[in-house]
Amino acid sequence: MKNIFSPIKFLKFNNCYLCHNIKKSVKLAPNLKKIKNFYKINYKNKKHLFKKIKFGNKNIFKKNIIMPSFLKIKKKCIYFFIKWLLNIL
Ligand code: HEC
Repeated sequence: MKNIFSPIKFLKFNNCYLCHNIKKSVKLAPNLKKIKNFYKINYKNKKHLFKKIKFGNKNIFKKNIIMPSFLKIKKKCIYFFIKWLLNIL
């Protein structure tokens, strides 16, 4: 059976929900809608965003609060997530 990418499972399984909500910014990291809106304007290419998720990032939304790296997530899954974030969310 073919696996279908589920963004909600992806976010849960990889603990993204520990810091990110979809719409509310009650947690310490920017919510995913905010990230989407930012990258609608500042999008360079998918590799650029891929690297931020894989290797972590800081100082775009928050000063000195770090988005951790996720070295174990499969490349394919991160690209699915980016597609979902930018086009569907
Ligand atoms: C420990 C908290 C934490 C976890 C867990 C976390 N993030 Fe983040 N994330 C952050 C913070 C803080 C930022 C803002 C960083 C910045 O200001 O650049 C961020 C930023 C981002 C961005 C925007 C990239 C940027 O900085 O411009 C994306 C996309 C993102 N996170 C996706 C994810 C995904 C997908 C997961 C799960 C695999 C995840 N995050 C897990 C804290 C977290």
